[in-house]
Amino acid sequence: MPDDFETMWAHLAPIGRSAGTTGYFRQPFTVAERECHAWFVEQCRTRGLRIEHDGNGNTIGWWDSAAAIVRHVRHPRTPDEGAERAGLSVLTGSHLDSVLDGGAYDGPLGVVSALAAVDVLRERGFAPARPIGVAVFAEEEGSRFGLACLGSRLATGVTAPEQARELTDRDGVRLEDAMAAAGLAPALGPSAWLDDVGCYVELHVEQGRDLVDRDEPVGLASAIWPHGRYRFDFTGEANHAGTTRMEDRHDPMLTYAMTALAANKQARLASTGAPDVARATFGRLEVTPNGTNAIASRVTAWLDARCESEERLADLLAAIEKQARDRAGRDGTGLEVTLESLSPAVLFDHELGARLAAGKPVIATAAGHDAGILSTAGVPTAMLFVRNPTGVSHSPAEHAETADCLAGVEALADALEELAG
Ligand code: GLV
Ligand code: MN
Ligand code: MN
Repeated sequence: MPDDFETMWAHLAPIGRSAGTTGYFRQPFTVAERECHAWFVEQCRTRGLRIEHDGNGNTIGWWDSAAAIVRHVRHPRTPDEGAERAGLSVLTGSHLDSVLDGGAYDGPLGVVSALAAVDVLRERGFAPARPIGVAVFAEEEGSRFGLACLGSRLATGVTAPEQARELTDRDGVRLEDAMAAAGLAPALGPSAWLDDVGCYVELHVEQGRDLVDRDEPVGLASAIWPHGRYRFDFTGEANHAGTTRMEDRHDPMLTYAMTALAANKQARLASTGAPDVARATFGRLEVTPNGTNAIASRVTAWLDARCESEERLADLLAAIEKQARDRAGRDGTGLEVTLESLSPAVLFDHELGARLAAGKPVIATAAGHDAGILSTAGVPTAMLFVRNPTGVSHSPAEHAETADCLAGVEALADALEELAG
């Protein structure tokens, strides 16, 4: 008997907890994240799902259809067959990595629910006419290498392997070295298994309060806002905190501080007269040399900005950058702004959404997902959201009630039955 939803959840719960916090540190290719991955592989084995690893750190557990099994056994894939079979399978799943000090649900809920949905379908006596894959995508959060949805970006070709090879973590460890150190054999680049995927349905904890306000346990996503990540490098002059007169300073911390206020102000201004259309956050900062009694020589800060349209996002960045440069002029500091990633707006597949909606509320989100990357790459994609009573995410306070999670599992099972039947 495979583990039920609550048993799976209980097994994952202790993995990656850090002393002194109720949150999770499951950064990609670390011991904690690998333990989650090993747990996933074991759960797939228990269910007789065929495991496939790609060279990008993604893993898929396949519930093959009878027709697909015959094909796999009789004929290893040829280029012609690949074309013929394109669009055959139905993919679900999510990710097991977390943000720094993240919650339990962002990612793992989609993976555990996918495994539980397979069990529900088997209990219903369902035999898939098309293979169903349960995917775990690597580095969805970009918490270690800075590029969100790295596994799905590489699998789809949205990000080139050459770009990924340049990525390092905060300790300077290169992506491929981190993968190798975790026992993987990196072979970055488009994943062949994706050629056969006809559609993707990702279940995710909601990262806001829309479903709470609507008093609904499960909803469907309509769209993802465009999203940019930008590095702001402020440079100044290191000097003595006690002896340097205030008017003689070139303090990049001041330029940064004003820029953080400007980001907040500009995002609020963008939403004036329009309902909540822009977000801007500085959540990460590095200060050099980071001493209490010295003026900093350099401050690096990362801006995360998201808006309901790409035009508005470009305007928001321009407004923040203008205020930052004006202030740098007054402070006598330098500023360089580097775009680290830009994710375009995503409109989920309308036809697929209409097939799965069945009276569920349909909501847009400003959070990024592998589903957005697959959608951008041309895979018809839908997302299910499960109510989060706190509305909080990327924090230990993220939550979902078990009854809502089980409603999500049923909704996902219905979707897979509809699509793979
Ligand atoms: C990922 O969850 C993001 O929206 O940054
Ligand atoms: Mn997520
Ligand atoms: Mn997330």
